[in-house]
Amino acid sequence: ESIDIGIIGLSVMGSNLALNMADHGFSVAGYDFESSFTTQFITDKPHSGVQGFYDLQEFLHSLTKPRRVFLMIKAGKPVDTVIEQILPFLSDGDIIMDGGNSFFKDTQRRFTYLSEKGIHYFGIGVSGGEKGARSGPALMPGGNIDIYENIRPVFEAIAAKIEGQPCCFFIGSDGAGHYVKMVHNGIEYADMQLISEAYRLLKYIGGYTDLEISKIFCQWNQGELNSYLVGITADILAECDADGTPLVERIVDCAGQKGTGRWTSIEALKQGVDVSIITTACNVRVLSNLMIDRSKAAELIGHPIREHCADTNFVEQVRRSLYTAKIVAYAQGFSLYRSASIHYGWHLDFCKIAAIFRGGCIIRAQFLNRIMTAYERHPELSNLLFDEFFYGKINENQASLRDIICLAVQNGVAVPAFSSALQYVDGYCGGTIGANLIQAQRDYFGAHTYQRVDKEGSFHHEWKEHYKK
Ligand code: 6PG
Repeated sequence: ESIDIGIIGLSVMGSNLALNMADHGFSVAGYDFESSFTTQFITDKPHSGVQGFYDLQEFLHSLTKPRRVFLMIKAGKPVDTVIEQILPFLSDGDIIMDGGNSFFKDTQRRFTYLSEKGIHYFGIGVSGGEKGARSGPALMPGGNIDIYENIRPVFEAIAAKIEGQPCCFFIGSDGAGHYVKMVHNGIEYADMQLISEAYRLLKYIGGYTDLEISKIFCQWNQGELNSYLVGITADILAECDADGTPLVERIVDCAGQKGTGRWTSIEALKQGVDVSIITTACNVRVLSNLMIDRSKAAELIGHPIREHCADTNFVEQVRRSLYTAKIVAYAQGFSLYRSASIHYGWHLDFCKIAAIFRGGCIIRAQFLNRIMTAYERHPELSNLLFDEFFYGKINENQASLRDIICLAVQNGVAVPAFSSALQYVDGYCGGTIGANLIQAQRDYFGAHTYQRVDKEGSFHHEWKEHYKK
């Protein structure tokens, strides 16, 4: 009964987190329902700070009280199953933590269920993939703040550090940590889609080779677009198959998704928040899956002939467009945080969320410093676009975004995420949006009433038929 923390689930994420904890001086017990994973864990990656167990009861028995049990297993049903399996062996005050990409409502449900049984539950967003888990992930813990002190030292020790500060901060109660991770993933989808569109523009309109584009991304990564995702894109495009063909050309044009992006989009619709760029990114993945239909459609429906029509300014215009669209994507994501914070009573600290995202996670980027500054300046900012830095950038770059979208449209290069960024800006900032006509239509066919610009109250009009239908 002396081990600091137990990890259930010893596949790559679980075992790397265990080693990371052990590196920081915590003793770790590891258990997996698949005994071969335990064997692999203790033989492939021996570490004096970790111990593998084949018996669940023995594993739980080895932990100091209150026990700290960290689940690194597949999200969904398996989490409920494992909770039920360990519950009989736990005591009052023990702590279960779930580090998977669990749906935040499941986390809320488990939080309530377990607190009724005297067990504390934390939903912890973990970002950074395998490498992050081993050497410093970003962590987003949500649960009971009074209990947080019991787990804080472990998580702060293993988290990535930026300017000496751990990329780990208590997010809020119940499902708040998993919610913040979910939207992180939605933003990740948006970032990836925007990068992919910039790549396609450079390739099909700019006429650059993959290797040339790799160098362009590498250069972009030195400036304001500096980020993990831009950096790995530069690497990816430099990678060739045995015969010298860029490897990316050999990869089937069909994207997977595990659901967190889609959840973000659905949640945003429920909250009444526009995260159109995230939704667009989900839709592109969905469309990409229709391989047979897409090739049939390509035969049936004509397409403009693409010309390489880039001028000297083109690459810079694409860069500016990418940066501008990225600003809009984050403005949308953070608007969702704001709405959810109020709706669920989480009191999210947007500045701290941006701070966590600066290191360890997939969307880590220099850009996050700008978001921190914006919320430091105005903690109550209703939309990031109202911050002087961000609206300044939109003003500076919107002409480039418009030019690039026009070129893409003329050449039939799909840029749905770039376009939805611009549509959001034009909808948000362009004065009227056409809702007056929508209200008139609603009132015409359903007497739903409307409000007037010149008088208080609700009005209904007896709309006349002016024309024969
Ligand atoms: C992270 C990633 C991680 C994972 C996603 C990928 O933050 O480390 O977001 O959670 O890579 O699950 O999601 P899709 O499979 O849906 O693209």
